[in-house]
Amino acid sequence: MLKRIGVLTSGGDSPGMNAAIRAVTRSALSQGVEVVAIEDGFKGMVEGKMYLMNSKSVSDIMFRGGTILGSARLPEFKDIEVRKIAISKLEEFGVEAVVVIGGDGSYRGALALTEMGINCIGLPGTIDNDIVSTDYTIGFDTALNTVIQNIDKLRDTSSSHHRCSVVEVMGNKCGDLALFSGLSCGAEMIITAETGYDEQEVLKRLRELDETRRKKHAIVVISEKITDVEMLANKISKATSFSGRSTVLGHIQRGGSPTAFDRVLATRMGDYAVELLVKGIGGHCVGLVDNKITSYPIEEALSLPRPSRKQLFGLHQRLI
Ligand code: F6P
Repeated sequence: MLKRIGVLTSGGDSPGMNAAIRAVTRSALSQGVEVVAIEDGFKGMVEGKMYLMNSKSVSDIMFRGGTILGSARLPEFKDIEVRKIAISKLEEFGVEAVVVIGGDGSYRGALALTEMGINCIGLPGTIDNDIVSTDYTIGFDTALNTVIQNIDKLRDTSSSHHRCSVVEVMGNKCGDLALFSGLSCGAEMIITAETGYDEQEVLKRLRELDETRRKKHAIVVISEKITDVEMLANKISKATSFSGRSTVLGHIQRGGSPTAFDRVLATRMGDYAVELLVKGIGGHCVGLVDNKITSYPIEEALSLPRPSRKQLFGLHQRLI
């Protein structure tokens, strides 16, 4: 019978991670399983930064953004010698299995540890919504709402000054934050890795919007890592009648109190992760698919193709 599990958060933090930590802890304790907090992700695991938690350790954290455990990225975890050190630290603390809350990089670490004898379950904690084995990742909804609030504000001032706001949003290689925020705000253009980027096309489209549609403003939502948004805004000022301005929303998107959706998602997923570990299952990750909590082998989850968002892009186009 499982006696003691660990919980950690890894990679970029996301709102709702604390709700997941709380659910894992309380769910385990309610089944007689002890819980060890592992600080600063896999880095803290290797350094032995761990402590035993009780029910009170996770009081009053549900509404807090960030992660009470701290997070870190540790590329060296790919190295088997580093993982051997991590396992020796887990053994020292009597940790038999671990819930890993993070993105795809963290899932790889969880799988590698499972293969070395420590059952791990991955929970999708990232604002990017780039984990294909779940419809939504923990933190995406909160980040999306943060983006929307900011774009709404930018629209006010853009309208007053006949400006085009180019808004860069996070997402790494996944365009969901850009697409869903663009749809929610009625942005004039959405640019992601899926749409592709053609600067001349963007300028032409903006000219059309002004000349034929008499738009007072234009909002262009663009995923990070596609182009230099300041340069694009300058070109818009030169090549269209809009005056271009760029805004990089940056890490603002990662903070803040989680939405109800993220709290419920994290709570359901945290509880399910414990259920899997108690059953002796490891190397899986939890997902929400068609509103059902489910799990996939991590290896399979990481090889699933990203779903096309073609229909949503089409819908956006039709409603401009
Ligand atoms: O994966 C989450 C994320 O916020 C991405 O959207 C972004 O590309 C990256 O992390 C930023 O990483 P860092 O916080 O290390 O700058």
